[in-house]
Amino acid sequence: MELKILPGNIANMIAAGEVVQRPASVVKELMENALDAGATQVDVVITDSGRTLVQVIDNGCGMSPDDAVLCFERHATSKIATAEDLQHILTFGFRGEALASIAAVSEVTLRTRRKEDEIGVEVEFAASEHLATKEVQAPSGSNFMVRNLFYNVPARRKFLKSDSVEFKHILEEFTRVALTRPDVGFSLTHNGRDVHVLRPAKSLKFRVQDLLGKAVVGDLVDISAKTSIASISGFVGRPETSRKTLGNQFLFVNGRFFRSPYLHKAVMKAYENLVPEGTTPSYFIFIETSPEEIDVNISPTKTEVKFAEDSVVFQTLFAAIKEALGYGAVAGDLDFDNPEAGKIPVLGSRFEEYTPSTIPSAGVDPHYDPFAGFPAPSASSAPREKEPSFPDFSHVDRKEDYGKLFDDRTLASSSVIPVHGRYILAPSKTGVMVVHVRRARERIFYDRFLKALSRETHATQTALFPVRIEVGAANRTVFDGNADLLASLGFDIVPFGTDTIVVNGVPEGYSSEPGKVEVMVGDLLLILSESHNALPEMMESALAAKFAALGAAGGEPVSSPLEARRLYDALMASANPEFTSGGKRIISILPTDELDKRF
Ligand SMILES: Nc1ncnc2c1ncn2[C@@H]1O[C@H](COP(=O)(O)OP(=O)(O)OP(=O)(O)O)[C@@H](O)[C@H]1O
Ligand SMILES: [Mg+2]
Repeated sequence: MELKILPGNIANMIAAGEVVQRPASVVKELMENALDAGATQVDVVITDSGRTLVQVIDNGCGMSPDDAVLCFERHATSKIATAEDLQHILTFGFRGEALASIAAVSEVTLRTRRKEDEIGVEVEFAASEHLATKEVQAPSGSNFMVRNLFYNVPARRKFLKSDSVEFKHILEEFTRVALTRPDVGFSLTHNGRDVHVLRPAKSLKFRVQDLLGKAVVGDLVDISAKTSIASISGFVGRPETSRKTLGNQFLFVNGRFFRSPYLHKAVMKAYENLVPEGTTPSYFIFIETSPEEIDVNISPTKTEVKFAEDSVVFQTLFAAIKEALGYGAVAGDLDFDNPEAGKIPVLGSRFEEYTPSTIPSAGVDPHYDPFAGFPAPSASSAPREKEPSFPDFSHVDRKEDYGKLFDDRTLASSSVIPVHGRYILAPSKTGVMVVHVRRARERIFYDRFLKALSRETHATQTALFPVRIEVGAANRTVFDGNADLLASLGFDIVPFGTDTIVVNGVPEGYSSEPGKVEVMVGDLLLILSESHNALPEMMESALAAKFAALGAAGGEPVSSPLEARRLYDALMASANPEFTSGGKRIISILPTDELDKRF
């Protein structure tokens, strides 16, 4: 074998694979560059989920004509000069890799002008080759147009996922960057439609609200903590609203998004015993520390960060969340098998002396991906509840006044049988009880929604793979006016762009099949737009009744005995299991003497 040095463009192509994995990587790198250039407005324009075009326009410092060419060279960076500097990184970029990598696998046009220059410059690169430079009129700032990503690497282009998956990645990167700088205006346009238009926000909370919706923000509590090593701020979700899917989990250090299985554990530990297993709370956590305390130079995408004092950060974060959730003082009782743990300090001066013995050991898992396991949005892979998830009421004390129909307590333990998906049979004292499944669901939903509307309880929820629905501007207004009400009923719906909503969750027991969700949401908005002229005191019960009917109508057939049992038990826990809120009969008894007559 003969050793050869690779030609520069091939070497660049290989290196590009590390930095540029998909269109979303280009979005991230260009947005970060714009912020590093001091931009106060960053506009992102996407065509075909980034396959055809990723364009990022900023009003930052711009570049001289020479730099506009030089910036595409590998290791060309203005952000560090010496090895020393690597210890004090405060910018997103520092490697001088991103633009060289992007230019290696696409066709790039850069138009840029510095404020002090009269005339701007336009530079073209394709497959690492410098094609053209010319003078142009240009606003001050930079405008990068990245076309036909991976056009020269067909294998990579083939590996891109469906448009919706690629766009979801873009949206994630956009969200992460936009969260780091609430003071900067951002916009995201896809195929000519505005997806996000984010004005500079007064605070992080407003930015979160603009990005993710009111419902998310309403469920957050503030966290804050400070030690000599790090200060932590941000928000975490209330335990009762945590979700079965991963999604809104964000960790930032010095304004940089990063993944950390280790610190994720700190969060989850703080929620231990507060959320059902398998659910993950939302969190937006911002850690500030001196740049010497961290090493960001350990992964090509810069999304892993190593803390010199990681156990201190772990413990600070853990305690801050416990405190925010109102458990700070008693955290030791709820957690840590260690008897010493009872002495957990509440962020006092002795805080740093405290190190519980149960801290998991740190380690960077290079394969960790908090979004892995997130299914692609095809109907077949959307998560389905294997069993309908009616609350298990078997432990609930029955009311004494059911009427004589239900005075036989032994019924609770006898078996029930689903019939044709539509009925449930159960033995009763005087014969065979037949339960009408749809109406039973209607009753259960009605009770639950009425309670939720009167704020007695929080409605429980089934998380979905997000279902995006274009409802039109008029319906969007209806949605915006009722967002809180829908959230209280257990709908997790967030606005998207100007005429679209995204359904992330539906009340427990509602069908989670995307097709049905879409139809159901249409009806939902219709009900809401019609009900605004009802009397306020009628509103709650009328809405609960309508939404109950809607959920019941979309329900799946009851197929297994277990499902039948749950539904039956939930119905029996109702104060009024015999009739729907509209007065329709739910239960019919086939008397034993009727049966006798037949034989
Ligand atoms: N939008 C921009 N406005 C002004 N200058 C820019 C812009 N984008 C890039 N540059 C200049 O080009 C250089 C190279 O950018 P590139 O993203 O390749 O590297 P970097 O940001 O220094 O490091 P990294 O590879 O870690 O991102 C930057 O250091 C900066 O000087
Ligand atoms: Mg960069």
